Amino acid sequence: MKHFTLTFVLFIFLCQISFAQNSSIIILDSGKNVSIRGLSVVNDKVFWCSGSSGAVAKSIDGGKTISWFTVAGYEKRDFRDIEAFDEHNAIIMGIAEPAIMLKTSDGGKTWKKVFEDSTKGMFLDAMSFDRKGNGMVIGDPIDGKVYLAYTNDFGSSWHKNDQIFETQKGESFFASSGTNIFVSQRSKYPLFASGGFVSRLFYKNKIYPLALMKGIESTGANSIAVIGNKATIVGGNFASDKSKDSNCVLVNLKNKVTFSVPKTPPSGYRSCVVYYKKRRLVTCGTSGVDISEDGGKNWKNISTQSFHVVQKSKHGRTLYLAGSKGKIARIYID
Ligand SMILES: *[C@@H]1O[C@H](CO)[C@@H](O)[C@H](O)[C@H]1NC(C)=O
Ligand SMILES: *[C@@H]1O[C@H](CO)[C@@H](O)[C@H](O)[C@H]1NC(C)=O
Ligand SMILES: *[C@@H]1O[C@H](CO)[C@@H](O)[C@H](O)[C@H]1NC(C)=O
Repeated sequence: MKHFTLTFVLFIFLCQISFAQNSSIIILDSGKNVSIRGLSVVNDKVFWCSGSSGAVAKSIDGGKTISWFTVAGYEKRDFRDIEAFDEHNAIIMGIAEPAIMLKTSDGGKTWKKVFEDSTKGMFLDAMSFDRKGNGMVIGDPIDGKVYLAYTNDFGSSWHKNDQIFETQKGESFFASSGTNIFVSQRSKYPLFASGGFVSRLFYKNKIYPLALMKGIESTGANSIAVIGNKATIVGGNFASDKSKDSNCVLVNLKNKVTFSVPKTPPSGYRSCVVYYKKRRLVTCGTSGVDISEDGGKNWKNISTQSFHVVQKSKHGRTLYLAGSKGKIARIYID
C-alpha cells in the first residue's frame, strides 16, 4: 500500500512536470495515391487540400466527410499549394511546365486558369495571402533572381514583380508545404526563406543567412510561421529526416532582426510550422510531429507519423495535418 501511494504520488508529480498537454492525432482519411502538400483551413468546419495527380479534397463539416475531386484536364498535375477563401472559392498552384494557377468559385466543380507561365525552368513553390486578398507566389530563381508575382484580388489576376533579389549558386525554394513565404496585412513586406547550397531569409530588402542545414539540394528552410514580431522557420535535410541538426531557427523581427536556435530542437527534418496560440507551435515532417509551448525554444515530439503540412483555421482554433498517401488528420492539443 505504501509502495502504491509512493508510486502514485510520483506518477502525479511526473505528469505535472512533463508537458501539460494531452495531444492526439485522429486520422480522417488515408489510402489514396495522392501526396498532399497544400492545406488551407478556412474555419473550424471548412478545409481544403491539394496534391499530386490533379487532386483536391474538401470538407465542410470538420472532416466528418471529405470530398475528393480530380481537376478535369489536369489529372497529372501536382498542386503543391492551395489557398481557400471560403467553401466556394479557392486557388490552386500547379508547379511547372507550364506553371499555372487555377481558381474555383463553385466549390471545386469547375476551375479557371488565372495564371500561366511557360518560361523554361519555372517552378512555383508557395503562395501566401492576407485576409484582404493581397497575395504573393514564389518560384525557383530564374536567371539568378527570385521569381515573385503578386495579386490584389484573391488571385484572380497576377502581376510579375520586378526581380530585385539575386540568389546564389545552388540556392532555391522548397515546395514541400506551400509555406515558405508569408504575407500579412500587418507587415508591408513578405518574408520568404531559401534552401539548397545556402539557406537565407529575405525580408525588407535585406537577406539574412539562416543557421539551418545547407550545402546540398535537400537542405534548408521549408516553412515560415509568423505571429506579431516573432517568426519560426523550420527545415533541415529531407534526405536524412530523423536528424535534429540545424532544423529550426527563431527570429525576432522587432526593429533589428535577430536570430536564435532552440534549446531542444524538433525531432527531425520538418516541412511545415504554424502558431496555434501566441507562444505555441506545431511542426511536422516525414519523421513526425512536434509541439512547443515556449515560442519554439523547446520542442517535444508527439508522434512519429509522417505529414507534410499542418495548418490552423484562419477563423477558429482547429488544426489539421496532411501528407502522403492521401492522409488527412485532425490534431487536438489541450
Ligand atoms: C487525454 O485525452 C483523452 C482523449 O481525448 C482523454 O480520454 C483523456 O482523459 C485525456 N487525459 C488527460 C490527462 O487529460
Ligand atoms: C501513384 O501516383 C503516381 C503519380 O503521382 C504514379 O506515378 C503512380 O503510378 C501511382 N501509383 C498507383 C499504384 O496508382
Ligand atoms: C520522442 O521523445 C521521447 C521522449 O519524450 C523520446 O524517448 C523518443 O526517442 C523521441 N522520439 C523521436 C523520434 O525523437
